[in-house]
Amino acid sequence: CRVAVLISGSGTNLQALIDAASREDAEFSICAVISNKPEAYGLTRATEAGIPATVVNHRNYPDRDTFDRALIEEIDQHAPDLVVLAGFMRILTPEFVRHYSGRLLNIHPSLLPKYQGLHTHQRALDAGDSEHGVTVHFVTEELDGGPAIVQAVVPIEAGDTAELLAKRVQVQEHLVYPLAVTWFAQGRLRMLEDRSELDGELL
Ligand code: GRF
Repeated sequence: CRVAVLISGSGTNLQALIDAASREDAEFSICAVISNKPEAYGLTRATEAGIPATVVNHRNYPDRDTFDRALIEEIDQHAPDLVVLAGFMRILTPEFVRHYSGRLLNIHPSLLPKYQGLHTHQRALDAGDSEHGVTVHFVTEELDGGPAIVQAVVPIEAGDTAELLAKRVQVQEHLVYPLAVTWFAQGRLRMLEDRSELDGELL
């Protein structure tokens, strides 16, 4: 299974995927890493792993439609089976999402449907929640709204800060993302209309 990874930043999730793909029994390989930001450290991680790394800088395009079309063109040159968003901080057009429907994944640092959007850790703390976590989901036209695939729960501790909580959530992110990509690569996972299915069971 060929996987393209889209990033905007440090790329710790990308690193977890690179590490998983380098295992002897890996079910997938990363065929491309694409960033909308030229300074993203994830590009260095890709290059060090021998993976083609390219920038499609959104600032060079007049609007979202044109940017997304350029992005599709770049991605499709690598002919991926799956496109994975790993800290990719741009909202994608419906055209883009439809183009990769059923083969586009995102990771979001909350227990969706709670806390779509930004600042999820602080919002969980402010709400007095006892637990927080991470969700891997298929991407649909609704932002952070597509069918969930896997979640990991992280207990909130007394004295937690957004930074401490984010760190503990990231540990889980780095486990569940390679897991979900592996399921997809094994042909066990698919998106139905509004649910995910694993091994023929609705999630
Ligand atoms: C992660 O917290 C991910 O859940 C969110 O963006 C962050 C990316 O971090 N969507 P990194 O670039 O993978 O380190």
